[in-house]
Amino acid sequence: MTTAHALSDLPGAHLDPSRMPGHWLLARMGKRVLRPGGLELTRAMLDELAITEADDVVELAPGLGATTRLVLERGPATYVGVERDPAAARATSRLLRAGRDECREGTASKTGLGDGAASVVFGEAMLTMHTVDQKAAIVQEAHRVLRDGGRYGIHELALAPEALPDARKAEIEAALSDAIHVGARPLTTGEWRATLEAAGFEIRATRTAPMHLLEPARLVADEGLLGALRIAVNVLRAPAARARVRAMREVFRRYEGNMCAVALVARKRRAP
Ligand SMILES: C[S@@+](CC[C@H](N)C(=O)[O-])C[C@H]1O[C@@H](n2cnc3c(N)ncnc32)[C@H](O)[C@@H]1O
Repeated sequence: MTTAHALSDLPGAHLDPSRMPGHWLLARMGKRVLRPGGLELTRAMLDELAITEADDVVELAPGLGATTRLVLERGPATYVGVERDPAAARATSRLLRAGRDECREGTASKTGLGDGAASVVFGEAMLTMHTVDQKAAIVQEAHRVLRDGGRYGIHELALAPEALPDARKAEIEAALSDAIHVGARPLTTGEWRATLEAAGFEIRATRTAPMHLLEPARLVADEGLLGALRIAVNVLRAPAARARVRAMREVFRRYEGNMCAVALVARKRRAP
């Protein structure tokens, strides 16, 4: 196992910092936890998924594998990651148990896995960046890959309150997409729940957390004191990255009252 990533091994290593996707820019600065509710919400989702040694786990979009490590600590029978970015897929692969697990380069809506291959499927900070149709396709794929009674976890960005006017939703989407340079299409918690229910899931748990991805206390909680300091130094030393990080944090703060992180855990309904 290895924890350090050479800069040239990181996703987006060849991209210009002023234009690259925000999550890869943060990864380049040293950030490893790239989801809106941080490790605390991830842990709550994993507790609810109750992964044991009997489980076959599929993670959609593991990124650099921060949650993969936590899953492997629970000793599942097998783990498969499906990650679109080749460098991220390689980074996650390095964490895995030889002969038992794999991280394949691929897309979450077409994993190539068999029907009922998994007892647990989850993905974090990845559905938000897809259109309504793509979200539905990924959730349907999770449903297909799960056995009856299997558990599905998501951890995504949410809008609040439920009655948020469409114009405000569009404004937030545009500001976020502009800041992170990735199409960001968060849903309200009710809309996330409905997306899973439409695919045949029954919601078992819903939990929210503030969207504090770039706030100092969350950085320390997620990356440790040294990790947070390293990120701060890296950001201070890189003017283009500094401008991007400041712009992202400004948007997160501006819309803090209308944004949160949400984790849902659902169960695939058993066939009648
Ligand atoms: C914001 S990062 C989150 C990474 C990780 N889940 C985490 O929370 O730290 C988004 C990740 O989703 C991956 N991704 C986006 N769309 C995907 C898709 N359709 N299939 C597989 N991976 C995807 C990206 O390559 C990236 O690794």
